[in-house]
Amino acid sequence: MASSSSTAPVAHNALPPPSVPSAGRSSRIAPHSHIKGLGLTPEGLANVDGAGFIGQTNAREACGVIVDLIKSRKFSGRALLLAGAPGTGKTALALAVSHELGSKVPFCPMVGSEVYSTEVKKTEVLAESFRRAIGLRIKETKEVYEGEVTELTPTESENPLSGYGKTVSHVVVGLKTIKGTKQLRLDPSIYEAILKEKIVVGDVIYIEANTGAVKRVGRSDAYASSFDLESETYVPLPKGDVHKKKELVQDVTLGDLDSANARPQGGQDIMSVMGSLVKSGRTEVTDKLRREVNKIVKGYVDQGVAEVVPGVVFIDEVHMLDIECFTYLNALLESPMAPTVIFATNRGRSLVRGTSDIVSPHGIPVDLLDRCMIVKTESYTREQVGKVVHLRTIVEGLKLGPNVLDKLAAEGEKTSLRYALQLLTPASILATLAGRTQIEAEDIGEMNELFLDAKTSAALIGGGKFL
Ligand SMILES: Nc1ncnc2c1ncn2[C@@H]1O[C@H](COP(=O)(O)OP(=O)(O)OP(=O)(O)O)[C@@H](O)[C@H]1O
Ligand SMILES: [Mg+2]
Repeated sequence: MASSSSTAPVAHNALPPPSVPSAGRSSRIAPHSHIKGLGLTPEGLANVDGAGFIGQTNAREACGVIVDLIKSRKFSGRALLLAGAPGTGKTALALAVSHELGSKVPFCPMVGSEVYSTEVKKTEVLAESFRRAIGLRIKETKEVYEGEVTELTPTESENPLSGYGKTVSHVVVGLKTIKGTKQLRLDPSIYEAILKEKIVVGDVIYIEANTGAVKRVGRSDAYASSFDLESETYVPLPKGDVHKKKELVQDVTLGDLDSANARPQGGQDIMSVMGSLVKSGRTEVTDKLRREVNKIVKGYVDQGVAEVVPGVVFIDEVHMLDIECFTYLNALLESPMAPTVIFATNRGRSLVRGTSDIVSPHGIPVDLLDRCMIVKTESYTREQVGKVVHLRTIVEGLKLGPNVLDKLAAEGEKTSLRYALQLLTPASILATLAGRTQIEAEDIGEMNELFLDAKTSAALIGGGKFL
């Protein structure tokens, strides 16, 4: 066997063979980690495989259109339904959409069955996901003093009132930028803030001129070599003058604001300022609280301080929701601040959960279906299965012997893509047990003897062979 591994084709030699520790690690690699995006051409065509996505041309192009609509904010309040057989890449497509949108657009994934909890109402879970998918970009131009701290000297003086001890009368802070340095004489309250933020010489900070709020940006990268703290973020020396106008951008979601208000904490950032508007003592996000937050947000938007960024809620296995949830979804979709919704389901016609007699396509009531654009995922050809399996072997760091890929592709075409993918890890374990570094055709054969694919298993039971 060892000889066959040395004469094996070198197609997969970019990655090391799975040794015992790396096999342990690769078994935890997420099933969609090879998907990096939709892989479309600049014209929005999917004629080439890209970004880890193989085939599925129509669905990918359709999702590309949706991404464009979401980016130009023309898709809010509507829903995309990905429908197709199990293992045809619906979840993968939704994740690719989230990659394409980038990190600026909030993406909130959930599974239909997540709504069932004994503590929280079903509708509450949905409402929270929707709030988490609406971003708020708060832009403020503020007068700040920014720079690397070069000096931090509190000046103490006798306390004129009590006669005992000393108090800080002012603090001298030296700030340095590329352009210059400045020494500031600041109020003792700012010194307290500096202590609270644990600021020391060498940190890059900014002090808001109006409020005196102090924010630590990070440690100046001039100090990067002298400290090995991994948790530290190193930032370059700020450009421009020490005293300047700076545009501060902060991305939060409405869900963040809700929970910050439900549990107000101290602090100086915008969230806690907003949090302090509502009386303390709340622990639950109520509708009333949401309305108050909305009102404040609307005020910010009207003033041009904030911008609403509608994001995406992804509900996988949507047929698991019940009629109450579906009705509530209709209402949520029509609310003025609604995110884009993506559903995925692998059911055909089925009973709507929570009813006894309503059978509808995908187990979704027709009134909600009416609001959806439906994209179908197709099943894969042998060649496409082969390509996906090949991608996964690279991600998982596995080596395949001759003809193994063909065998797996044939297996996947006969049963399902997922079955072919799932054979990989156990087959690699068999290969390791046999002392080989690559998977051979016989491992796959043995896997097929040990395990059944769904269709064979169902056929066996259906045919009464187990009885
Ligand atoms: N076109 C593709 N290109 C690359 N990988 C794919 C493609 N389609 C599916 N996959 C991979 O195949 C596996 C199964 O796909 P996925 O989980 O997206 O199926 P699904 O349609 O969501 O199935 P289910 O209905 O069972 O939830 C995943 O690991 C996925 O990343
Ligand atoms: Mg899925």
